[in-house]
Amino acid sequence: MKKIYLTTALIAMTISANSASNKATYIQALEKENGIKYNKIDNTYASYITSMCYTKTKDNKSGKVFNPCYSCHTNGKEPNYIDDANLQASYNFPTEILNNPFKNLFKDRSKEVGKISDKEILDYINQSNYFDADHTIALAKNLPKDWQGYRPDCYYNFDKEGFDHSPDGNYTGWRAFRYYPFLGTFWPTNGSTDDVLIRLSKPFRMDKNGKFDKNIYKLNLSIVEAIVKQKDIKLPHKIDESLYGVDLNQDGKIDMAQKVVFDSSKYFTHMSYVGTAKKLLKEHKVHLAGGLFPEGTEFLHSVRYVGWDDKQKHIKMANRFKELRYAKKLYWSSYSELLRAADAELKEQNVLGTDQTESEVWYGDYEHGIKSGTGWIYQGFIEDKKGALRPQTYEETIGCMGCHAGVGAPTDTIISFPRKFEGTDMHSVEYGWNHWSQKSLIGVPEPKVSYKGYGKQYEYSFYLLHNPTGNEFRDNMEVRDKFFDKDGKPKEDMFNKLHKDISVALLPSLKRALQMDKGYKVLVGEQSFIYGREGNAKPIKNVYKKIDNYHQSTGIDKIILHDN
Ligand code: HEC
Ligand code: HEC
Repeated sequence: MKKIYLTTALIAMTISANSASNKATYIQALEKENGIKYNKIDNTYASYITSMCYTKTKDNKSGKVFNPCYSCHTNGKEPNYIDDANLQASYNFPTEILNNPFKNLFKDRSKEVGKISDKEILDYINQSNYFDADHTIALAKNLPKDWQGYRPDCYYNFDKEGFDHSPDGNYTGWRAFRYYPFLGTFWPTNGSTDDVLIRLSKPFRMDKNGKFDKNIYKLNLSIVEAIVKQKDIKLPHKIDESLYGVDLNQDGKIDMAQKVVFDSSKYFTHMSYVGTAKKLLKEHKVHLAGGLFPEGTEFLHSVRYVGWDDKQKHIKMANRFKELRYAKKLYWSSYSELLRAADAELKEQNVLGTDQTESEVWYGDYEHGIKSGTGWIYQGFIEDKKGALRPQTYEETIGCMGCHAGVGAPTDTIISFPRKFEGTDMHSVEYGWNHWSQKSLIGVPEPKVSYKGYGKQYEYSFYLLHNPTGNEFRDNMEVRDKFFDKDGKPKEDMFNKLHKDISVALLPSLKRALQMDKGYKVLVGEQSFIYGREGNAKPIKNVYKKIDNYHQSTGIDKIILHDN
């Protein structure tokens, strides 16, 4: 007995030694080629903070004050217990990062950018770095065999309902959806195109006998949408509740349902998933609570260059990825656990304004991703010097955590899904279950959001009135000139156009798109992502190099809050 035990132990040791060298060789080669370090922090532990936080909110000449801060720093909706809206008012940074750590903002890359021709950049971004020439997923093939993190498995091959299919025709589980892009940085006019896909874990895709069932999966996605948004979700057609044994519309009967009802006073006893997940819910192996995703939920987010559609004469998603980003909910956190995590976060942020010296510690590593502390892991891949995708380093991955786990804006760390379109008619512009390559932003009407003291407002117009360039750093003159005249007065006709079609504000011209693509390509050559991921050609002006002290005011006296 003892001997066998020893032998297996020895075999196990040899295997892990082999695997370690496999992974180690891969990582060492990347470090050498790109001049990066996978485990060491080079810049600062505070890279979970964004460059946008250092924006000069006040215009020196006119004295006018802008507010690009409210998009992220806001009163979260329960169960996002983070309320960091106070950060709109002051630059209350930990002492060690009063000096802006994002040095890239101050770089002048115009010389390098000037050397890249339009044709060169178009050729570069039109070429895929996700797929090899034979349409295999390059990164999935290149990652070491013993890689334990996420291995890309999406084929971006969508049917008319947004489901992804592998080359053999099977469902990969990924489903694309369209959403209202988040304010500012995430508009294509500010540098990138992107998409988001969701995948629920296997039991959510299977009937009660454990067989894949597309209708069950679709229904579970709608149920999750109702739970996460904490509101009723219309179904595309009437559903016979008796097939699933769940009272979807909560009218007290098992009949035909046209919507999934979310009633905050009784959902915890009246709502259920369907199929195998329904059984698991009863056994407490998966959970259900308003504003939260079930365990095992995954998201995939490709961030790409801004491409150009020659026929349509407008931008499109480029084939080349800047980044591939991934998140998975590994375990459940209850409301009380989330409240405790948020309290700890607020203590760290010390919103009352005292000297801060400690910054956050994030658990995890570049291989498995970094943990949010509330059940999720985040992981990303980014272009290497030659343009192939590589895993992001520990320090680069820390950069993911703030926006997703440290501010008031997200729902259960997720940003896009709560902003998903809700149209049920497949042919309408607001149909939610498609990829952007199938249906673009063009013709999508502007959403409305309710802010305290302002009432219901057009979301993007409201942002433009507080940030006329449509971005944080006030340097997107294309947007400003579109919506404001020389004296800074809003052009009413343009705002009216925007209400009917959000692409009017969100999409850049070809000239602007190529300029941004070139700047970013120079950044890729530098591999200096930890110092800021903006591909600015010229130094950015409206941003502080140094904050005098943590009491320094932004001059914003009217904090903008959501009417949750
Ligand atoms: C795109 C989102 C975004 C925008 C816009 C933004 N911030 Fe931030 N900010 C963050 C994130 C993420 C963090 C890190 C939060 C965390 O995990 O503690 C942060 C942190 C901060 C902190 C440090 C708090 C701490 O953790 O100690 C201050 C101060 C701050 N922001 C001020 C501002 C101000 C002022 C503005 C507007 C000029 C602004 N931010 C705009 C995302 C943003
Ligand atoms: C500056 C804030 C910010 C940072 C930093 C950031 N994200 Fe996000 N992320 C967003 C926003 C905003 C969206 C929604 C996309 C949109 O509106 O276009 C998003 C979307 C996502 C999604 C899709 C699910 C969702 O939340 O909508 C994933 C997955 C994701 N990000 C992972 C990552 C990873 C991994 C990193 C680090 C490599 C990262 N993010 C860094 C703001 C950020």
